[in-house]
Amino acid sequence: MRRKIKNNISWVGYIDWELEKFHGDDYSIMNGSSQNAYLIEEGKTVLIDTIWTPHRFDFVENLKSEIDLHKIDYIIANHGECDHSGALTALMAEIPDTPIYCTANAVKSIEGQYGKRGWNFHIVKTGDTLDIGSGKSLVFVEMRMLHWPDSMATYMTGDNVLFSNDAFGQHYAVEELFNDKADKCLLWKEAMKYYANILNPFSPLVAKKIQEVVGMNIPIEIIAPSHGAIWRENPLQIVTKYAEWANSYQEDQITIAYETMWEGTAKIAHEIAGEIARQSPDTVVKVFNVSKADKNEIMTEVFKSKAVCVGSPTVGNSILSGMAGWLEFLKQLKFKNKKAGVFGCYGWSGESVKILREKMTEAGFNVVDGEIKSLWNPDAETLAKIPELVKNLLA
Ligand code: FEO
Repeated sequence: MRRKIKNNISWVGYIDWELEKFHGDDYSIMNGSSQNAYLIEEGKTVLIDTIWTPHRFDFVENLKSEIDLHKIDYIIANHGECDHSGALTALMAEIPDTPIYCTANAVKSIEGQYGKRGWNFHIVKTGDTLDIGSGKSLVFVEMRMLHWPDSMATYMTGDNVLFSNDAFGQHYAVEELFNDKADKCLLWKEAMKYYANILNPFSPLVAKKIQEVVGMNIPIEIIAPSHGAIWRENPLQIVTKYAEWANSYQEDQITIAYETMWEGTAKIAHEIAGEIARQSPDTVVKVFNVSKADKNEIMTEVFKSKAVCVGSPTVGNSILSGMAGWLEFLKQLKFKNKKAGVFGCYGWSGESVKILREKMTEAGFNVVDGEIKSLWNPDAETLAKIPELVKNLLA
């Protein structure tokens, strides 16, 4: 179970190849995931985080096979969410008096989930340190709202390892543990998907926190997140990437997201895609039916885009319900500095385009002129309006 990370630091987590969904059913897992926990055995023995609740008994049994649990001097709970705190109940049943170091908000979230069990919490703030012997210590850095109020990172001096918890993580199973061993395409794809779907709403805080950590001027040899690959080779590359992603990130891409009843709105979507390719051959175009494609994958493409075009026919004086749910998720993610276009078919009342415009504006997009509103299926006259919409999206 134990895998060596560096010197006296071991990985003692759980690699979850079978996981398909996360955060309930809200986040799709395509390439497995892991919950990374770490054991430090210096003068003091320290456990950093645990794993998700369903695997708690295996976690404790595995840990027992590695060490006498009573040798654990300190537990560090970087984050109270149950994918990292979920084994605490089983672990604390064995070693109930062991001190747990965490933020004040983590006490609230842990007790809120598992009840007040009289655990020996020690509240820490940014800059607090814990001597772990052998001339090494742990330094705590609060990571408030990255992505929960309780989140924090722990830096280990001497070995220069940043245990960053969710930050810099990926839902990606890497049996070999390290970024230099991982499939680079999948690693970066999953790191971006994680950022776009979980951290993007907090981008201003990400940018500020990166400045703060860089300003601390600490050497970082390894970044050990709580999910996915551990950044051992050039660990700061993911920090640089986060700084880029946090700054209203976009590439030369336009994503078209639509829902359709009888293919009229789908036809407009594909005509728009073709027109983008005609007007701007270098622009990447992606087209998704939101009721069929995976919503987290679409959001990753939205994250990369400079503009998004959304379409729905009018149904019940509104838009299709799949698009309505998708737009609610889009709004939560707080994308910035992106344009939007709107389109849709109707047979009589025709509200969908107006509603799409309102919802995209609410979601923070700059909706351009030139909407495509088609009475029944799009005819040549309606399709002739597409170049103007595309011109505005590309401008
Ligand atoms: Fe991986 Fe916010 O828990």
